Amino acid sequence: MSLRPKKSAAATVTFRDVTKLYGKDTVAVDNISLTVEAGTLVTLLGPSGCGKTTTLRMIAGLEGVNKGNIFIDDEDITNMPASERDVSMVFQSYALFPHKTVIENVAYGLHYSGLIKSAIPVKAKEGLSLVGLEHLAERYPSELSGGQQQRVAVARALVLEPQVLLFDEPLSNLDAKLRRSVREEIRELQQKLGLTVVYVTHDQEEALAVSDKIIVMNKGKIAQIGSPHELYEKPTDLFVANFIGESNILDCMITSVTDKTVEVSVGGKIFNIPAQHIKKGPAKLAIRPEHISFHNAQKKDGFSGSILSATYVGAKTEYQVETKAGKLFVMVASTERLRDVNTKINLGLSPDKMLLFND
Ligand SMILES: Nc1ncnc2c1ncn2[C@@H]1O[C@H](COP(=O)(O)OP(=O)(O)O)[C@@H](O)[C@H]1O
Ligand SMILES: [Mg+2]
Repeated sequence: MSLRPKKSAAATVTFRDVTKLYGKDTVAVDNISLTVEAGTLVTLLGPSGCGKTTTLRMIAGLEGVNKGNIFIDDEDITNMPASERDVSMVFQSYALFPHKTVIENVAYGLHYSGLIKSAIPVKAKEGLSLVGLEHLAERYPSELSGGQQQRVAVARALVLEPQVLLFDEPLSNLDAKLRRSVREEIRELQQKLGLTVVYVTHDQEEALAVSDKIIVMNKGKIAQIGSPHELYEKPTDLFVANFIGESNILDCMITSVTDKTVEVSVGGKIFNIPAQHIKKGPAKLAIRPEHISFHNAQKKDGFSGSILSATYVGAKTEYQVETKAGKLFVMVASTERLRDVNTKINLGLSPDKMLLFND
């Protein structure tokens, strides 16, 4: 018996103009529209309180919707009770039953799934083997590590073969090393089984690592939707430029805009940048720390500065450099010579890596 295919294959989730209020005044989710294509892993990413959990809970039917519609494939499920939705959720807290063994935990939902009784142990065992824990079937949750408990929670959700699988910050309680391996396992299973997964995290690195598509949320609204690469390379919004990866954000003045180039003045220097959607006047310039380089001689496209701090973090060294444009955060490969605090340095900034945003 295999976990797929079955009658309800992975499905598409669609939000159309969905709003959720708590009480009269708290707009938790503000008129969002989105699509999670069948068989893809889409991440809701944003700071705490931006509406991620609320969005997931609306898919599961654990929260009602004030305005708009939610669809699973073509079916409008906006008002369908949670128990009738073919959706499973994995929580940050694992939420395992402490007095049931691992295998009993995994089998739990199967008793209510309509599966014939004799098939339940087989199915549960199969779920456990998907997450590599067959050998721990008879243990209790308290006898497992955090990572193992979370794998059991994943197996428990997987055996139900939901049309949509939801993860709410599933790695938050794990240490850094485990977070990486469990996230890779989740991604592998999702791809192997062709699951539709909606994954919530506030950790941008985790989002970049696991997602087909990322939906960045800010204050209940969608700031940008794109592939990890698009969001990192072409943020269309200052919030996204700042939230995904790290950026230096500098005050600047746009002095001329043509079809081909934008002329920008920053820190007393003029840069000519390939065309971007921007208006003349005061603006913000974003540049990533890895797009600033150290040079011995003064550069036309750059600033001279003085090193305020140098932090060796293994493969990279992170510097703070005081310049006329402000304090710049610079990341340099540690294979380069380490520079001391107070050293004078010339920086090169690549104009085609600069992103401009109107205030
Ligand atoms: N049950 C609730 N009652 C009232 N306000 C809530 C409730 N749940 C969440 N909120 C509020 O809704 C907003 C979005 O919360 P949430 O969806 O949990 O955000 P996230 O998961 O991104 O941290 C926050 O302002 C939060 O305080
Ligand atoms: Mg949350």
